[in-house]
Amino acid sequence: MKKIIIANWKANLPIRSSLVLAKKYSSLSQKKFSIVVCPDFLGIQPISILLKKTNISLGAQDASIFPLGAHTGEIPSSALKSLGVKFILVGHSERRSNGETSEITFQKIQRILAEKITPVICIGENLIQHNQNKTIAVLKKQLFSIFSQLSKEEKERRILIAYEPVWSIGSGKALDADEAGFVCRFIKEFANQNSLSKVEVIYGGSVNESNSDNYLKEENISGLLLGGSSLNFPLFSKIVNS
Ligand code: 13P
Repeated sequence: MKKIIIANWKANLPIRSSLVLAKKYSSLSQKKFSIVVCPDFLGIQPISILLKKTNISLGAQDASIFPLGAHTGEIPSSALKSLGVKFILVGHSERRSNGETSEITFQKIQRILAEKITPVICIGENLIQHNQNKTIAVLKKQLFSIFSQLSKEEKERRILIAYEPVWSIGSGKALDADEAGFVCRFIKEFANQNSLSKVEVIYGGSVNESNSDNYLKEENISGLLLGGSSLNFPLFSKIVNS
């Protein structure tokens, strides 16, 4: 399977800039990686049209715990699916730090799976945990809270886990590729031990055009989740053409 590169634009762009950037993305003509772009919610509908004739897939940055219905202000997975969204990020550290609990993350995962969309479940340790060598213990806890509640059928679905050390996100401090590879391997093995058969583990956190190759070379890293460097088209195009 091709490695995957996911662009998370976060809330960085007003709609006009999102459309300009999406147009540039649509000019990419590489076949080596699967590319997924996650604009903000406002960009999803117009960008779904811009990307229609490309091989870039559409993702969302989050989704509601609710189905379609009387839930003011919510954006259900099924509404996103109707626009062609194939991947949804869930449990990103920026959402967890804004109050999203593990229970909420799990409810979102279930809704996403119910819609036959691929969840990209984000996990990672903070700086204190990293410095205390608690990374594996922290990730185990985050993963177990999800794996232990999934049904047999849900465990057989394609699931992406994005390992993003919280201290590395947007900081310019990237984890060494071999360490990232080691952690991603642990995640994959832990998933297999818990009967999840189709898990791909990707890495994110200060990935740029100079270090992306090191991660992509790692056998146990199935792709990248990019923040800042996905907003700069020349850099992004360098990464996907590497
Ligand atoms: P940066 O690439 O800006 O560090 O962000 C990573 C991230 O949070 C992607 O979801």
